[in-house]
Amino acid sequence: MTPEEHIDHIVRDHADINELVAQLRAATERGDHATMKSLLMGLEMLEAKHYAREDALMRAVGYAQADAHRAEHAKMLDTLRSINATLVWENMRAISPQVVAHIEAAVAHMLHADEALNRAVSPGAAPPGD
Ligand SMILES: [Fe+2]
Ligand SMILES: [Fe+2]
Repeated sequence: MTPEEHIDHIVRDHADINELVAQLRAATERGDHATMKSLLMGLEMLEAKHYAREDALMRAVGYAQADAHRAEHAKMLDTLRSINATLVWENMRAISPQVVAHIEAAVAHMLHADEALNRAVSPGAAPPGD
């Protein structure tokens, strides 16, 4: 797969993550715990697949910031896995602040670390939102 093809997949993943995060934020705000649970499980699968994809791209292009970027992925996935592991016995109300913190971390990562990766791989890329 070429770096450009990786980027196409990554951009589509980001749209999927943003859509899921919007649904999760809404479910968290209205205290819909059943929906939160299923969205969080879906988000874990999506993030795991997506981070592996970005990892493959960083290896393919020899990205200089790969270690720091990978560490952010590992931390976010660890947090999400621990949220999901405790869902079976924790009160969702107690876990909601962690869910919100994870959403904020994931969105900030896409805006900063992923954008830096995108610019390194495609120097002519337009900034997000253009
Ligand atoms: Fe990403
Ligand atoms: Fe990333």
